[in-house]
Amino acid sequence: MKSYKILAFLLLIKLSQATASFAQDKIELKREHILIDTGWRFALGHPYDVKKDFYNGTGYFSYLAKTGYGDGAAAPGFDDRTWRKLNVPHDWAVEQGFDKNASLSHGFKAIGRNFPDASVGWYRKSISIPAKDLGRKISIAFDGVFRNSIVWVNGHYLGIEPSGYHGFEYDITDYLNYGGENVIAVRVDVTIEEGWFYEGAGIYRHVWLNKTAPLHIIPNGTFVRSTINNNEALVKASVTLKNDALENDKFNIKQSIVDAKGKVVASGSLQNIELNALTEKEFTIDIPVVKPQLWDLENPYLYQLLTTITKNEEVIDEYKTNFGIRTIRFDADKGFFLNGKRVEVKGTNNHQDHAGVGVALPDEVQYFRISKLKEMGSNAYRCSHNPPTPELLDACDRLGMLVIDENRLMGITEQNLNYLKKLIIRDRNHPSIISWSIGNEEWNIEGNITGARIAKTMQAFAKTIDTTRAITAAISGGIGNGISTTIDLLGYNYVATKNTDEQHKKYPAQFSWGTEEGSTVASRGLYSNNMEKHELAAYDTRQNENFLSLEDGWKHYAARPYLAGMFIWTGFDYRGEPTPFGWPSVVSYFGMVDLCGFPKDNTWYLKSWWTDKPTLHLLPHWNWKGSEGKPIEVKAYSNCDEVELFLNKKSLGKKRMEPNGHLNWTVNYTPGTLEAVGFKNGKKILTDEVKTTSNPTHVSIIQEAIPIEKSTLAILKVDVRDASNQAVPTAVNEIDFQISGPAKIIGVGNGNPTSLEPDQFIEHIDVIQINDFKEKPISNIDDITELTTDLTDWDYAFKQERTQEFGKKVKALIYRGNFDLEDWNDATKITFFYKSIGKQQSIYINGKKIADKLTENKKGNAFTLDKSVLKVGKNTIAILATPILKVQSWDNINADPGLFQVLKPAADWKRKLFSGLAQVIVQSTGEAGEVTLKASSNGLKPAIIKIKL
Ligand code: GAL
Repeated sequence: MKSYKILAFLLLIKLSQATASFAQDKIELKREHILIDTGWRFALGHPYDVKKDFYNGTGYFSYLAKTGYGDGAAAPGFDDRTWRKLNVPHDWAVEQGFDKNASLSHGFKAIGRNFPDASVGWYRKSISIPAKDLGRKISIAFDGVFRNSIVWVNGHYLGIEPSGYHGFEYDITDYLNYGGENVIAVRVDVTIEEGWFYEGAGIYRHVWLNKTAPLHIIPNGTFVRSTINNNEALVKASVTLKNDALENDKFNIKQSIVDAKGKVVASGSLQNIELNALTEKEFTIDIPVVKPQLWDLENPYLYQLLTTITKNEEVIDEYKTNFGIRTIRFDADKGFFLNGKRVEVKGTNNHQDHAGVGVALPDEVQYFRISKLKEMGSNAYRCSHNPPTPELLDACDRLGMLVIDENRLMGITEQNLNYLKKLIIRDRNHPSIISWSIGNEEWNIEGNITGARIAKTMQAFAKTIDTTRAITAAISGGIGNGISTTIDLLGYNYVATKNTDEQHKKYPAQFSWGTEEGSTVASRGLYSNNMEKHELAAYDTRQNENFLSLEDGWKHYAARPYLAGMFIWTGFDYRGEPTPFGWPSVVSYFGMVDLCGFPKDNTWYLKSWWTDKPTLHLLPHWNWKGSEGKPIEVKAYSNCDEVELFLNKKSLGKKRMEPNGHLNWTVNYTPGTLEAVGFKNGKKILTDEVKTTSNPTHVSIIQEAIPIEKSTLAILKVDVRDASNQAVPTAVNEIDFQISGPAKIIGVGNGNPTSLEPDQFIEHIDVIQINDFKEKPISNIDDITELTTDLTDWDYAFKQERTQEFGKKVKALIYRGNFDLEDWNDATKITFFYKSIGKQQSIYINGKKIADKLTENKKGNAFTLDKSVLKVGKNTIAILATPILKVQSWDNINADPGLFQVLKPAADWKRKLFSGLAQVIVQSTGEAGEVTLKASSNGLKPAIIKIKL
């Protein structure tokens, strides 16, 4: 008995010590949301060649058989030293060249089914998790990986996400090595496409590490909506909490509304809430806000909801949700209303990609793109045809742009509906979003009963999650049937083949708008068609008779108040769909602005009729050498009442502008100045002119404005100018770029749909494996008699287990193998990343000793090889080593000698001008210091600019 008591006493001391030390290292409760975009390693794998795919999925027990059995490149100990270092967002598709056997719809980048060597990508990254994090909930969140990604942490398979457009988050709490390193591995497979437009490849959106207390707000766990009555908003703030602890918990919830200046303007709370172990629940608080500042297009005022969870006065979770107070409503006869006022929806459709960077857009590029669309008077953006990255929606919230947020594929299975749910739950707090689109042009179903049923089910399902937005679907045919009979807000794609008035009459309660319209194709800055060269005149020419021009499309919508407005196909050009052409055109011609955001002339048509700003724009340019005396079609876009045209100061007549129209003249070309003068109420208010320029003398760079508070990015516009500093609109000079300081160029473009120039100039890495690796016992590691003997009777290496028994018989071994090298140049760096296969070892390459009696090194050794030792074609490697032996039968002995890395440094960045312009995107490395960009071109004075970052 006595001894029991002593034991109990000792245990008590132990326990109190344990609690004391627990109190000292108290776990951090408050949430952390950590961006883990930097320091990834990347290599291309392979869809079916196991060797090229780093032997993943080949283990006797692989990751689907046994927990934690991630093998090959998914194994935590995999040696990724040869892989390229990079940061995400990353798009490996944009890095590839073009090939006519690649996908037309994806811009002929050499990825996909015909290019298996460039269709699987692997990413790996190590993160350290402090010991004090034990007890927290930790998860890894990917905002978007294109596509079919598999993720492992420390060899633990976390899941597969087929969609390239949905974010996903995995709980990794129990898999982590606390107080140590943890390896994330991601395999991405783009063999199959999801859309019919450029989609990129890789981890192209942000990656986050989330840490919370066991009791926490779930991801995207808040929902804020409001109603407005007599200058007072009633904000309904919901929060969903999950208690991941193993016991019930009691806590308080506070919801505070913080204005744009950081002042709390209203709040509400719930006390003594209880949540059972391992359950989740939503809690809602109604909070009145007096005299709210409304979110609208001119003043996109944002509030923040600060949700605080406390327990015994201590904050255990805090979550910030940006939101806006505004009302929206559709009316079947009068269109769309924002805050009670009718707003004509002047929208554009856009895909995700931009010049130079593909789909891996730094956040700043989203702001740049939205601002370019706003500049032409657009107030709405359709995310065609997939859920966007969250930063795009943030940009729309902050800059004042209405949004249709679109689901990818229509369907009613659990997976389909779950994707729709994910989209709505992630995005429902964005004030910019006015409608959820359940789908686009589903030709197989849109005009039949199946489509009608699916649309009805999806629409009803969407409303169970959010009742504040109208549900739309974009259809191209089957009006009067199918989806058009069941959808609340009918989206017309292209009215040239449809009678919207008839549909409105038949379905008087249905809301409607144009989800795609104005299918006009143009090459920026070119004014005659050259079908051989794939050049299309920028005169607002419709794609074909099944489509309307921009002007005719807009006239249809502007004339009908029951139609809420329209979305042009498209705002920006995008890779793929080079309609009406195929190879070698790689980019679409539909955009109002090109892939860089440089405006085509159509943007001035829009400025004229989509804004109130006095506008006058003359086209084409006036450089028509060789066409002297020949007729040139001249157009003016303007919202003036009248426009008078002058050639070299001589009037060619004054014309009256019809609303939503344009003016035309045919002018026989004489070099000089063509001037347009705009009149309002008889008074001259504006002029615009185009002038014949001389040959360029110098290069010029301008840093474009990006409407974002903090920017680590610069977007630069490059042109060449003549002696009187006029930009030459027809120039096609090739420009070389050199950057100095803590920044790098991340992409170049020029908006030319037929350009097959590289978008990026990056280092190229080939990873070379050792073939036919064989072994033979030798007397000691200095015994070089087998260095060049015949290998026929040799055994493949490591067939025999390295038991203690083996060690008694074999004191040393020679291993031999070979590896193939392709041609290299002076700048190529060839490195052998060796992994010890012996306790002690000497290494020979092509008979030359490169390492002498190295002792075992678990971290590996790297040898930069002198190229005089190497040859193009087959090379030999020999390793003379004393064996590493198993101590326990289950020990794993390294049998992999490592890999060769052939690194070709990036070539110098360059790009040709297209219609006088090119774009360079520069990103800061984060360090302080002056960044300078030099742009030079043969025979011209270079431009040098200090970049503001
Ligand atoms: C539409 C389609 C768009 C795009 C466009 C090209 O039918 O919805 O995604 O493909 O045609 O003309």
